Amino acid sequence: MEKLVDVSIVKDHVAIVTLQRASAANSFSLQMLEDFNEQLDRIAANKSIYCVIITGEGNKAFCAGADLKERKHMNDEEVLRTVATIGETITRVEQLSMPVIAAINGAAFGGGLELALACDIRYAVNTAQMGLTETSLAIIPGAGGTQRLPRIVGKGEAKRLIYTAQRIDAHEAKEIGLLEDVFEEGLLIAGALQTAEQICANGPVAVALSKRAINEGLDQTMNDGLHLEHTLYKETIHTEDRTEGLRAFSEKRPPQYQGK
Ligand code: COA
Repeated sequence: MEKLVDVSIVKDHVAIVTLQRASAANSFSLQMLEDFNEQLDRIAANKSIYCVIITGEGNKAFCAGADLKERKHMNDEEVLRTVATIGETITRVEQLSMPVIAAINGAAFGGGLELALACDIRYAVNTAQMGLTETSLAIIPGAGGTQRLPRIVGKGEAKRLIYTAQRIDAHEAKEIGLLEDVFEEGLLIAGALQTAEQICANGPVAVALSKRAINEGLDQTMNDGLHLEHTLYKETIHTEDRTEGLRAFSEKRPPQYQGK
């Protein structure tokens, strides 16, 4: 059976992850979660992937969150277990060592937006709609939304969006800082790839350590964050890439980094 999550290596060092369940708005079924985790294992083990782009199949939905049809037949315990699995899967995306770009090709609701919130950079097509719509279903965001949304857009906007379950368009999302950029139809993946290539031209170890410094440091006090930054800086000192960066600078040529 075809996997519900595809990974293809496009260009050097860039992997595109595609949620492949367009007939159900790319919503998270149990099978899709299993396939997603299998693909995350493959990505985490592949040291030559320096940047990941996550998108959805088709042009309607990025991901409509939990599979609500499947959920209707679950008992309370199964619902809780599934919510936990969606949350853990999304946290695994956040914890990938390399940057992850969400290329939001359509609707991103509930867990679909929560997946995008766990990515490092969010781009969307100008027709995309998004929102944490859970309270309209009498539940709360359960895959990180209450924690990650306020860290990205601030407490007030996050509360407004979660309490009202409002669906906003890409332009409003960019205005409040939920998206880094918005693209015309057909240009989204090219835009994400361009950023991915810019990332891949830099020292892969340094990019990964920057990700850790920002993600882990923001949850600490400023002093602890600065200490973490210095500790992680030290990890670049003995890399071959750091020597190559200095050599390339003095030889006036682009550096050739190896991720070592
Ligand atoms: N779970 C399961 N199936 C879903 C789904 C979900 N979360 N979201 C959409 N689908 C299904 C639809 O039921 C439909 O299937 P059908 O053709 O068998 O009826 C198919 O996906 C396409 O959806 P449809 O609504 O016809 O397409 P659309 O382009 O008009 O709208 C959405 C797409 C995503 C905007 C809309 O379906 C929607 O709002 N879904 C609910 C999203 C949501 O609230 N998620 C929060 C979960 S906490």
